[in-house]
Amino acid sequence: MATPIVDAEYLKEIDKARRDLRALISSKNCAPIMLRLAWHDAGTYDVNTKTGGANGSIRNDEELKHSANSGLKIAIDLLEPVKKRHPKITYADLYQLAGVVAVEVTGGPTIEFVPGRKDSKVSPNEGRLPDAKKGVQHLRDIFYRMGLSDKDIVALSGAHTLGRAHPERSGFEGAWTSEPLKFDNNYFVELLKGEAEGLLKLPTDKALLDDPEFRKYVELYAKDEDAFFRDYAASHKKLSELGFTPS
Ligand code: HEM
Repeated sequence: MATPIVDAEYLKEIDKARRDLRALISSKNCAPIMLRLAWHDAGTYDVNTKTGGANGSIRNDEELKHSANSGLKIAIDLLEPVKKRHPKITYADLYQLAGVVAVEVTGGPTIEFVPGRKDSKVSPNEGRLPDAKKGVQHLRDIFYRMGLSDKDIVALSGAHTLGRAHPERSGFEGAWTSEPLKFDNNYFVELLKGEAEGLLKLPTDKALLDDPEFRKYVELYAKDEDAFFRDYAASHKKLSELGFTPS
């Protein structure tokens, strides 16, 4: 067996932080913004230059000010007391653990979490996260740069089953499903139904219907929630480990 990169004491702290996060996320109903924080920290990864990734750099002022990260200070501030109680745990691990727990406590799949990420004070330039106004080619450009696949793009987009857009943050408004605090496959069911009164579809969500390779997965996940949960858990684990090589 490979040598774990963290010691037994660190693993114990991770277990305790996991319990704190379950309580925090359930009591504050903040699963969506925690998941978005984890994704925006990890999603800056560039597989060619090996920069960005799940390294806690989103907490640096300059990165938090990127327009894509509007509103995420709320999540960072909510996690600060957890960091204070478990100072050994890196921000990079804490943010990814919060993302994994957010999916779990809202009824989603269990995602394997491997600790050991290092924190970075270096932030990438603005513009590495996807622009919701764009289409198929942009999604591929951005996610392939992270080293992710077509299947990852569609599975991970299913995270929009949680939460909503806020006009003051992104300029978009509304939730993708009628139960935005429940992690299920309804994002795909609603996407295939087409425009529905009151529910949101970003241009990048609709782009998943325009491309045959993407659409194949949308159709699968809409009819088979087990397939979605299985693929989502695998893709989310990959996302949570961008820029980090677990032992
Ligand atoms: C929210 C864009 C992929 C998780 C949002 C919002 C936008 C957006 C514009 C609204 C933000 C606001 O106004 O508060 C995109 C684009 C994506 C993408 C263009 C490209 C495919 C993802 C992925 C995940 C994710 C991969 C996680 C794995 C979320 C969550 C929310 C959200 C949970 C709700 C946040 C809340 O309720 O506060 N996204 N997103 N998104 N996104 Fe994405």
